[in-house]
Amino acid sequence: MQVRHHTDLTSYNTFGLAAKAAAFVSLRHAAELRDIIRLPEYRRDTVLWLGGGSNILLSRDYPGLVVHMENKGIRTLSHSDGLVLVEAQAGEIWHDFVLHTVSQGWSGLENLSLIPGTVGASPVQNIGAYGVEVKDLIHSVNCFDLETESFVVLSNAECGFAYRESLFKQAGKGFYVIVSVVFTLKDTFTPNLKYGDVSDAVAKLAEGRAPTAKDVSDAVCAIRQSKLPDPKILGNVGSFFKNPVVSAETAAALLAQYPEMPRYPQPDGSVKLAAGWLIDQCRLKGFQIGGAAVHDKQALVLVNKNRATAEDVYRLAEHIRRVVVEKFQVELSAEPNWLPRPEFYERNTK
Ligand code: EPU
Repeated sequence: MQVRHHTDLTSYNTFGLAAKAAAFVSLRHAAELRDIIRLPEYRRDTVLWLGGGSNILLSRDYPGLVVHMENKGIRTLSHSDGLVLVEAQAGEIWHDFVLHTVSQGWSGLENLSLIPGTVGASPVQNIGAYGVEVKDLIHSVNCFDLETESFVVLSNAECGFAYRESLFKQAGKGFYVIVSVVFTLKDTFTPNLKYGDVSDAVAKLAEGRAPTAKDVSDAVCAIRQSKLPDPKILGNVGSFFKNPVVSAETAAALLAQYPEMPRYPQPDGSVKLAAGWLIDQCRLKGFQIGGAAVHDKQALVLVNKNRATAEDVYRLAEHIRRVVVEKFQVELSAEPNWLPRPEFYERNTK
């Protein structure tokens, strides 16, 4: 285990913001955690446990220790009664893991194909796409408890999952390092084709035969590739804003004015709106501040057009929030985390 100093983080965050880490170390095995917490550079309140860097925005040089989670390994824990319990280490690349499960003939994760990032990051914001959230498949999360300095297992219920939320973003922040995740998958295939786009694309691929999990994975990849920029080519962090949830009354008032507005009624009576649609209606696709711009194919994604600085991204996000509030009286909140979190950025991270 080698600690490096003043390490360039540009290639460790998918937006491609230029920043350096005061100290940087790669973790290849979970057991190394015990050594990491003894490093002179380690401080529990400032350490950054970094996965694929696809949900962070670096506001400036990182003053503390960055630990890059690179622990790999996938193993089947049990397989009976049609259910497969499979454990993947935190440093596994999410999409590679999804493809592995699909190639084994297991189903459950296919709708979550091509989401950037690592397995260890997937529970943190409860990644979701095309009618599935990862919480639906997570059995338990293996963590290292930084307070007791011991390995612990959190059940699905203990993780406090909600839309793009979990214990790891709230009360558990700074306490748990996610070491591996255990998923419950099926060895038979029940398609989840709630999304019209996915259903159409799968029907085309299957050409009349019964669709497979691989068909769904291929369809999702094709849809994502047509709308979402590849972070290797155009820096981005996926959806920049969460889809806002408003009261039934607010939704009804907006619908009276915009009958075509996409909306997703929630079980508790509230209504989730499509942030991308709201931004698009404000004619902001392609709008640019400095090197940061609104993606021209999907308004919910901000992209690094040309050496964007943190300031460019922040100003662009604030502009979008302001314009959307003016037109729709709906507040957007950012999905990625600004790091470090100076006062200046607080408003954007609520
Ligand atoms: N829309 C527009 N213009 C746009 C973008 C979207 O009119 O520029 C409309 C679409 O036509 C559609 C609605 O808004 O009627 C919703 O769009 P879409 O189905 O593309 O999904 P989204 O709400 O923009 C969410 C997730 C994505 C996920 C997709 C598919 C959030 C914040 N985002 O996006 O997740 O891939 O659904 O399930 O919930 C991510 O979190 O990084 C991410 C990409």
